Amino acid sequence: MSSKGAYEFYDYKPAQADVAGEVLDGLRQQPKYISPKYFYDMRGSALFEQITELQEYYLTRTEMNLFNEHLPAIAAALGDKLCLIEYGSGSSKKIRKLLEAITPQVYVPVDISDEHLQQNAAALHKDFPQLDVYPVCADITQMFALPEETNNLTKVGFFPGSSIGNFDPQMARNFLKNVRETVGLGGALIVGVDRKKDVDVLESAYNDSKGITAAFNLNVLHHLNALLDANFETSNFEHVARYNPAEGCIQMFLRSTREQQVSVAGEKVFIGEQENLLTENSYKYHPHEFLKLTSSAGFVERAHWSDAQNWFSLFLLQGC
Ligand code: AVI
Repeated sequence: MSSKGAYEFYDYKPAQADVAGEVLDGLRQQPKYISPKYFYDMRGSALFEQITELQEYYLTRTEMNLFNEHLPAIAAALGDKLCLIEYGSGSSKKIRKLLEAITPQVYVPVDISDEHLQQNAAALHKDFPQLDVYPVCADITQMFALPEETNNLTKVGFFPGSSIGNFDPQMARNFLKNVRETVGLGGALIVGVDRKKDVDVLESAYNDSKGITAAFNLNVLHHLNALLDANFETSNFEHVARYNPAEGCIQMFLRSTREQQVSVAGEKVFIGEQENLLTENSYKYHPHEFLKLTSSAGFVERAHWSDAQNWFSLFLLQGC
C-alpha cells in the first residue's frame, strides 16, 4: 500500500444553460418553485452548518447520537475493501467518524457546490493521508460515473441528515434506484431519515428563534442573483415554514411582501403580493413508509435504529 493516498477532482457540474433553464421552469410553475439545491453556495452551506447546531433543530444531534452508538455494528456489517460514496458532502463530523470506523480504501464525496466540496475533500485528504479521495462535482439526482479506481471495491453509499426528505417520494425512489445501480448487488446504503412526529416539534425546527433558518432560506435569492445575473431583492420576501399534513412534509416558502418584477437570466418574472415561492419540502417518514420506498428501489433492510423519542431513524440497507 502506498503511504500517500491519491487525490483527483472529477467535474460533472451541469452547464450554466441547464441551471438557467431549470430555475426559469420552476418560476413558471404554480406555486413558483426554486430547487433547494440552490441553497448551498458558500454562505448557504455555512448557514446550514449553523442550523445543525440550533437547539430547535434536533435532527443533526439525534442522528449523531445514533451514529455514536451504532457505528461499531455498522462497521462489522460492512466488512472491508470499501469505497464510501457520500451524497452531498456536508457535515464533516459524521463523515470523519464513519471513515475512522469503517476505514474504506476510497472516499468519493459528491456535491454540486464545487467550492464547498473541494474545501472539505482537501481537508479530509490531509487528515486521512492513506485514504484515496476522489471528489465528484455533480448533481446527485442524476447518474454519474464513479472513478475507475473504485472498480473492485464494495460500494457503500452514505446519505445522512435526512437529506432524502428534501426529495418528494417519487424523486426519492428515483434517487434510491440510482444509488442501487451505483452500489450494485451486495453494496450498501447508510441513510438517516427524520420521522413523523408532533407538529410543534417539527415546525419549531424550521422556525428557529435566532432567525438562522430564515437567513438560510433568503440566501437562495442571493445565490440566484450571483449565478444567473438575477435581481431578487431579499427585503421584499419573508421566510415561511409550516407542516403540510396531507403531504407529510415541512414546506418552506419565500413569501413576497409586495407585487414585484424580477429579472432572471434575462427573463422577466412577475411575482404577486403575498405570493409564495416554494423553496423546500422536507418529508418525514414512519419507518414502514420509508422501507416500502427502499424496497421498491431494490434494497433490503439489514438494520435500523431509532432514538428513545422515535424522532429520527438510521437505516443500513443492502442492494438485492
Ligand atoms: C438538508 N436538509 C435535510 C435540511 C432539512 O431539514 O430538510 C435542510 C433544512 N432546511 C431548513 N432547515 C434545514
